[in-house]
Amino acid sequence: MSGLTIVTSSAQMSDIVARWKSQGESVAFVPTMGSLHEGHGALIQRATELADRVVVSIFVNPLQFGKGEDFDSYPRDREADEAFVRNSAVDVLFMPSVDEVYPSGQETTVSAGPVGERFEGASRPGHFDGVLTVVKRLFAIVSPDFALFGRKDAQQLFLVESMVRSEGSPITIVPIDTVRAPDGLALSSRNTNLSADERARARVIPEALNEAEATPTLSAALAAVRQRLHATPGVVIDYVAGVDPDTYRELDEGSLASEATLILAVRVGNTRLIDNRRLHFPQ
Ligand code: PAF
Repeated sequence: MSGLTIVTSSAQMSDIVARWKSQGESVAFVPTMGSLHEGHGALIQRATELADRVVVSIFVNPLQFGKGEDFDSYPRDREADEAFVRNSAVDVLFMPSVDEVYPSGQETTVSAGPVGERFEGASRPGHFDGVLTVVKRLFAIVSPDFALFGRKDAQQLFLVESMVRSEGSPITIVPIDTVRAPDGLALSSRNTNLSADERARARVIPEALNEAEATPTLSAALAAVRQRLHATPGVVIDYVAGVDPDTYRELDEGSLASEATLILAVRVGNTRLIDNRRLHFPQ
């Protein structure tokens, strides 16, 4: 489509953005770990509407994977990703090496604090410290006006928004709704790891969340989702919980809150999938 520039050097990336900004142009940034799909496509589309220039990064960040996690097997397909980005109005595809992102090898890491230790953080210790560390580093290199994140990774989005707020950063975080397959499964790079049988079983996740929407209270919503997931062979619950959307604190099961975000993580075979739904209960 447009003249895409591929950049691997952090210094060159920063220089390009400085040049755009000196011409009065705004910059939107879509950080990714590659294996791009239509979920990323929605982020990129919104980025092109928001700003004069769009940067997409692809960097599989070792800091956010724990020992024994899928860093080595995380899906990587450089050719397909490049083709995907070329099809949209992206100005720069930033694909740095580990040394370009962490030049000294011992950068100060960001602590995600107590919220970073719950849910995804409890199952994946250190994960959110790694996410915030790389996001902060990428923000320093790209200096965007806008940065776009998907609502599927609700806890990540909450923590990035909190970091930006607490730092008084001028970057506007733009949340984008989850993109789903026709059967409702949230698009995720990890879906490619599912066998056909596992993919069919994973359909229970959006079905359970749809059922939760029709319940009158949080406890009924949690019960409905757990029951649907438990009843599906090959699907193992990691957690199903309700959180306060403003604080990400877990809500008591008997909470009569009028709003909650129902969050869940399950294993389908060896693949871990997450999803969430904002629920409104009649008062
Ligand atoms: O959501 C992701 O793909 C990653 O966590 C991110 C934000 C690109 C940081 O590595």
